[in-house]
Amino acid sequence: MASVNPLEVTSAHGLQGLEALITEVDKLVSLPDIYYRLEDAIMDPASTTDRIAELLRSDPDLCARMLRIANSAFYSFPTTIETIERAVSTIGLRQIRELVLITSVVKAFEGIPPGTVNMAIFWEHSVAVGIMSRELGVHARIPNADGFYIPGLLHDIGRLVMYLKLPRLMHDLLQQRQASGQPMYLLERSALEYSHAEIGGRLLEYWKLPQSIWEPVVTHHEPRKGGEYSLAASAIHIADAWVNTNRVGSSGCGFELAIHPEALERIEIELEEIEQIGSRAAQQIQAVVRQFMSH
Ligand SMILES: [Fe+2]
Ligand SMILES: [Fe+2]
Repeated sequence: MASVNPLEVTSAHGLQGLEALITEVDKLVSLPDIYYRLEDAIMDPASTTDRIAELLRSDPDLCARMLRIANSAFYSFPTTIETIERAVSTIGLRQIRELVLITSVVKAFEGIPPGTVNMAIFWEHSVAVGIMSRELGVHARIPNADGFYIPGLLHDIGRLVMYLKLPRLMHDLLQQRQASGQPMYLLERSALEYSHAEIGGRLLEYWKLPQSIWEPVVTHHEPRKGGEYSLAASAIHIADAWVNTNRVGSSGCGFELAIHPEALERIEIELEEIEQIGSRAAQQIQAVVRQFMSH
């Protein structure tokens, strides 16, 4: 990662400030070319699995990381996937794309200067919210609940942007948070007019990821505003509250979050059910986190 110059809060203020922040961050953190080349190859009906495997092989580090995640407890494929060719032919293109995305994002943020945020704890929180969002969706029999994993995993990515470009503000807000007990996203909003949720969503949109990913990220603290994607936003919102209450990792907000009743209504779930789903998912979360963070 190139050297990071923090941004003044005044330059980051308001919607123009948000755009400035995103442009600055994109210079430091972006998805690798291979992600977009793979997208093109997947969209091209003339592509063969060989061509896709060859493309992936051009980035050995990415391949190694992908295979580790592919073999994690999250996917639970019946046999170990040892080669990229086998991954492409058995996993399916949708999941390959998902794996490349996860791997690329984790790698992109690896260069955050130490001391600002503990990445292992941050990703533990993120993976847990991703898995729990999917489990809530599956429990509620939502047809595309598998698609909740990625926005769930990326929901707090705007916090990484804040740690990177606005470290002083983050430090001050965390102190205010402790003194006032107000939710962190509201404190962020009073300081900037937007929160980490808008930052994350805007960054993912800027990276040309689909609306089904960025929209629930924008609305995860206010799921009723999620429009077409309010089911995903509600599942992520509930998952985030459960993960914070159970102290599985942390994205830096430090306190328990209240669940908006509309989110429970939207997913049609009771609080006791959430506990049951959570205790069933806990082992899987730990297993995935271990594989996710191993190098
Ligand atoms: Fe959040
Ligand atoms: Fe979170």
